[in-house]
Amino acid sequence: MSLSKDKNWWRQAVVYQIYPRSFKDSNGDGLGDIKGITSKIDYLSSLSLDAVWLSPFYPSALVDGGYDVDDYRDVDPKLGSLADFDEMLSKLHAAGIRIFVDIVPNHSSNLHLWFKEAIAAEPGSAARNRYIFRDGKGASGELPPTDWPSHFAPSAWTHESKMGGKHNQWYCHLFAPEQPDWNWDNREIEEDFLKTLKFWADRGVDGFRIDVAHAMKKDLSEPLQSQPRYASHKELELANGTNVLFDRNEVHEVYKEWRKLFEQYDPPRVAVAEANVSAEGAVKYASTAELGQCFNFELLDANFIANEFKLIIDRALVNAKKAGSSTTWCLNNHDQMRPATKFGLLPTVDRVNWRNSNGTSSPLDEKLGTQSAVAGSMLIMALPGCTYIYQGEELGLHEVMDIPESEIQDPQYLRNHKIDKGRDGCRVPLPWTKTGSSFGFGDGGSHLPQPKHFGDYSIEVESADPSSPLSIFRKALALRKTLIAPEDMTWHETGDAQVLHFSRPNGWNCITNFGRNHYNFDGAGEVIHSSGPLGKAGDLPPATTVWLRSSL
Ligand code: BGC
Repeated sequence: MSLSKDKNWWRQAVVYQIYPRSFKDSNGDGLGDIKGITSKIDYLSSLSLDAVWLSPFYPSALVDGGYDVDDYRDVDPKLGSLADFDEMLSKLHAAGIRIFVDIVPNHSSNLHLWFKEAIAAEPGSAARNRYIFRDGKGASGELPPTDWPSHFAPSAWTHESKMGGKHNQWYCHLFAPEQPDWNWDNREIEEDFLKTLKFWADRGVDGFRIDVAHAMKKDLSEPLQSQPRYASHKELELANGTNVLFDRNEVHEVYKEWRKLFEQYDPPRVAVAEANVSAEGAVKYASTAELGQCFNFELLDANFIANEFKLIIDRALVNAKKAGSSTTWCLNNHDQMRPATKFGLLPTVDRVNWRNSNGTSSPLDEKLGTQSAVAGSMLIMALPGCTYIYQGEELGLHEVMDIPESEIQDPQYLRNHKIDKGRDGCRVPLPWTKTGSSFGFGDGGSHLPQPKHFGDYSIEVESADPSSPLSIFRKALALRKTLIAPEDMTWHETGDAQVLHFSRPNGWNCITNFGRNHYNFDGAGEVIHSSGPLGKAGDLPPATTVWLRSSL
């Protein structure tokens, strides 16, 4: 299969997120790897994907699951080599699947060559100016330079002595201390990232997912301003590009320069921003003059409630139009609780508290959660725009709630007073087979413990069951390719506040029953597919989506 030269291939694509360390282990060291991915291209093809997005696979000590990058232009030897990457890429392309790689521009790792040089260098040196080093406050510089917070630690400043530095300075990190922030006021950093983008684009990479895309540029003018907590979306909007740490006007200049690079390729390289800003704030990042797309994360927090979905859908479509882009739909990623679990909890349950109680503080309706998640996925697949699927979502996997404290890897927990159990529960390696060592993930166990029930959700078991989430996904994704329509949709009145019905311009209809009552759609069209069994004569059971074809 050859890849089309269509410049707009990405606008309504299905992109599957691979978390490489947890996808498939080819050499029995307990970590998924590049050859593991290559060995499963048949599986990826069976999902009728347009592209895969690989979370970081670069050399890393894995303090933050690979989002602590030692070298942006190499493959972690634990995961393979550049030659393995090239082989994977050419086989993916041969199977008609494109590839996005993750770019982490806000911070490197403390093991990056340039950070090692910076720590060894004098204050004020060119090596230190690649990062953000400052003298501390207090009589002898014993206090951090500002009150800036970090996502994974109380302060965004760590004294250099913790990293072996011999001077009395502090360096800035919005995430873990092992993730020092780059100084984006330094042209050398801007140029180095252009070099990284070119390095992967020249190898044939089709697109980039940009990590924490609203960060990078900070107000570094002296004296540094106070910013004791992160601004809310609303506050960022009001700041209008002048917040000290995030969403600054200057970051858009960086993306305009990246766009020029993307346009030098045929077809142009594409990018999607991970920007923690409001739906309105995302418009600039998604504009065709910048990255071209921005993740729409609003559904990640939504409950399985019709009106919540509808408001988010309407808002996202309006904003995508403003940006000249198409929107992205996702229910899940490697930072989020699995949707089967989210939707199996009562909407009133605080998900973080529930996770911290190891899932014991209130009951989980596992079956309802799985059904709702599959129904939700079929709904988003039918919307105009891109569908993102996070590995394991197609199996209806649940969050793993009982990872023992001693095995937790996530810095969100380890570096933050162990307040929040963090994100490991959605990063547990995939089950490929019903039984066997780590359920077919690899021969050497699994870097995060898999629960006993994982085998029942395995690709082997679900492939043999026509009613499994995997079988429903496979059919839906294959059909989606044939049903894809111009980027428009119309809502239809259902007379039931818990039922959403929309159609696409070619007569493709999607009806989702979010409620607890049955809904009758008799006469709305010919059934093409459904996320679960339907009743007789147009009966749509609770937590089910049906696709129909109607005459225009
Ligand atoms: C990634 C996280 C990561 C953080 C720091 C995010 O937005 O998705 O997994 O911890 O960036 O790089």
